[in-house]
Amino acid sequence: MSGAVAASPFAQSVLAGLAMPEKRLEPKFFYDDVGSALFEDITALDAYYPTRTEIGILEAAAPEIAALIGAGAMVTEPGAGALRKAGILLAALERPAAFAPGDISVEHLRQAAVGLAEQFPELRIAPFRLDFDKSFDPPADVTALGPVTVFFPGSTIGNFEPTAATGLLRRFAAVRNAAFLLIGVDLKKDVDRLVRAYDDPEGVTAAFNLNILARANRELGADFDLSGFRHVARYDAGLGRIEMRLESLRDQSVALLGRRFDFRRGETIHTENSYKYSVPEFQALAASAGWASVQAWTDAEALFSVQLFRRASR
Ligand code: AVJ
Repeated sequence: MSGAVAASPFAQSVLAGLAMPEKRLEPKFFYDDVGSALFEDITALDAYYPTRTEIGILEAAAPEIAALIGAGAMVTEPGAGALRKAGILLAALERPAAFAPGDISVEHLRQAAVGLAEQFPELRIAPFRLDFDKSFDPPADVTALGPVTVFFPGSTIGNFEPTAATGLLRRFAAVRNAAFLLIGVDLKKDVDRLVRAYDDPEGVTAAFNLNILARANRELGADFDLSGFRHVARYDAGLGRIEMRLESLRDQSVALLGRRFDFRRGETIHTENSYKYSVPEFQALAASAGWASVQAWTDAEALFSVQLFRRASR
């Protein structure tokens, strides 16, 4: 493998993560083309309730949300994916001023935005490049167009440690013209229901988790034997989070970028946390980041929430 590969963010993250006493890989690297397709498959699973539940909540609450946000709003979506949820929001808003989706891959956004542009021929759509780990700066000429609503659906916030989540919400509050935050947050619930969503009977989540090793093989020339690892999902009630791991089924060693990593049988690689909140817990977290609660909507079973906040005056 070339030096350029070894210097890539994925390579750096894998080398650092596998060198830790408790091995870990970062969930943001799940989403190569194969992983993104597997995630789409997850969202359609019977066991994975978040996506369809959030869409149902958004559809039902959209008129109220639009009334609370008001006319002429500018919407920005950090880490935007398929843009289906943004379409629901934009359809309800009165004369939205512009929509600025941000993602690592602007190319993906441009493709996703084609359908949205057809649906909203009048709307100004301004995709921008964004790396969560750095700053969150939608283009200033777009944020100037109206009071900004930061739209952050999907419970992506659950991937962040609570302190990092607070930091991210602070950065949202610091966006020029920031007025509202509309965010999807997965809720605490029955443990069996939670675990099933991350360990589905069809094995799609297992394939999604294992794909990060396959990606290391493809992109970094590693020699992970995928049949030597199994997907594990558990709920830590104390920390309020789902934890996903890959467990080594035997003693083995893996070669990667000129280095060797040893795995004992039963040793795990921690690949993802997905934090769950109660509505008041999340309101408290957002309050510490400068956001005042306006309203929260949930589904009839209280599986998921869509929460609206107003930027607290400063
Ligand atoms: C995209 C982070 C919201 O935590 O539910 C789904 C990712 N991982 N199944 C989640 C995921 C395993 C998902 N988020």
